[in-house]
Amino acid sequence: MVLQWKIILCLCTMFGVKYGTMQSTEPKHGKVVVCYVGTWSVYRPGRGSFAIENLDPTLCTHIIYSFAGLNPKEDSIKSLDPWQDLTEDYGKGGYQKMTNLRLRYPHLKVSLAIGGWNEGSANYSKMVADPARRSKFVSNAVDFIRKYHFDGLDLDWEFPAKRGGAPEDKLNFLLLVKELKAALRKHKLLLTAAFGAGKDTIDVAYDVEGLAVYLDFIHMMCYDYHGAWDQKTGPNSPLKSADNLNVEYSINYMLKSGAPPNKLVIGVPLYGRTFELSEPINLTSKRKVKLGMPSTNVGFQGPFTRENGFMGYNEICLELNNKTEPWKKFWDSESSTPFAVRGKQVITYDDERSIFEKVRFAMEKNLAGVMVWSIDTDDFQGDCADSEEDSNFPLMKAINKSIETSLEDIKNRISHDKQDQKAEGSHIRPNVITLVVFCVFLMLNSWS
Ligand SMILES: *[C@@H]1O[C@H](CO)[C@@H](O)[C@H](O)[C@H]1NC(C)=O
Ligand SMILES: *[C@@H]1O[C@H](CO)[C@@H](O)[C@H](O)[C@H]1NC(C)=O
Ligand SMILES: *[C@@H]1O[C@H](CO)[C@@H](O)[C@H](O)[C@H]1NC(C)=O
Ligand SMILES: *[C@@H]1O[C@H](CO)[C@@H](O)[C@H](O)[C@H]1NC(C)=O
Repeated sequence: MVLQWKIILCLCTMFGVKYGTMQSTEPKHGKVVVCYVGTWSVYRPGRGSFAIENLDPTLCTHIIYSFAGLNPKEDSIKSLDPWQDLTEDYGKGGYQKMTNLRLRYPHLKVSLAIGGWNEGSANYSKMVADPARRSKFVSNAVDFIRKYHFDGLDLDWEFPAKRGGAPEDKLNFLLLVKELKAALRKHKLLLTAAFGAGKDTIDVAYDVEGLAVYLDFIHMMCYDYHGAWDQKTGPNSPLKSADNLNVEYSINYMLKSGAPPNKLVIGVPLYGRTFELSEPINLTSKRKVKLGMPSTNVGFQGPFTRENGFMGYNEICLELNNKTEPWKKFWDSESSTPFAVRGKQVITYDDERSIFEKVRFAMEKNLAGVMVWSIDTDDFQGDCADSEEDSNFPLMKAINKSIETSLEDIKNRISHDKQDQKAEGSHIRPNVITLVVFCVFLMLNSWS
């Protein structure tokens, strides 16, 4: 009897392994790729409207549904767009649609984000300051996440101790995270958070070492370093710079402050920042075109996102394809990012090349993976591609490819280093064959 059961178990395991690898829907590189979806992007006009059906879940390991809000009267999570999120009253059921993606893409984890820029900071600050309210929120939040079948909660309070918050937020946010984790852990649910990347924010908002104990992943918002508010042009997401407003500094500062690399996720913007210059640039003059030219404090907008100073990559790439009034593209080697100029207009943004350099940096630092804000402004329609085939999500695909390439290069370098010392041994990988051997071993064992 025991033998038969073991044989059946073995066959099932082997079938499971075979079936599992055949059906695998996840990226093969083993790093996390966290895709934020700003679900209001469905309201953008024309080709800019992004519905859940437009997602390609093979490009993400985690999807973050953004945003839910805080109901400060009940200390609970509330939908900010019930018609879009819920099924009640003939709603479109976005929560359900998103979590149902796991049926076809079983590798996916789908979390709900609470917060975001428009939610402000003050209501969160007051809630976390009161232990009774905090405890009520924790219990309500877990209920909400479970009710709508999410895999976890993502905290996007922007930001503790800033924008109307209080200095005590730093400690109280840590307490909230600790209490949330204890409650979510019971149901094997994830707890993650999006962190501001500026040193001034990190210093006042986050007890990095403590938070890293309880958070599964920290999503570093490595963007918005510069924008029209500076009244001069600057890169949205510089990899390096002379000051501390850059991606490398933010990541290194987090590591130094006690964030373990395997919990740290580098954020990459799938959007750019726009600027309106006071004087048009003379592109025919011999002077080198460099960022830092004076601009007004209001940039221009794109046709889909329609927000001054901001442009999705899908809007940027369409602009740059404009042949009637052409843009001139530049590479800013100081920040490792591209920018484009036309008359009085400047766009600073990220493309395949700058993303490759950011991903490479993250892989060198052995970080957990890459996050994007947000997948809905990649060229998800493939409208900017020259060829028809496999032409959508160019930036998401660049991330996938950059991770693979960087890991490959790092591995080759390491094995090259090893080879210098001694000949390499063979790699032992658990696979179907070792499973078979193990099964035979089990069967022989049960005969004796
Ligand atoms: C804070 O909560 C109050 C009460 O619900 C609400 O009126 C206000 O809009 C909230 N603040 C923000 C910035 O959302
Ligand atoms: C731009 O620079 C070129 C070369 O220096 C000069 O000949 C031209 O007059 C300038 N144009 C304007 C509009 O200033
Ligand atoms: C090119 O840009 C100009 C100026 O913004 C605009 O009027 C025109 O419609 C654009 N052409 C295309 C094909 O997008
Ligand atoms: C990700 O990259 C790998 C290797 O470059 C490739 O085989 C795979 O098809 C890519 N995935 C997607 C969804 O593009």
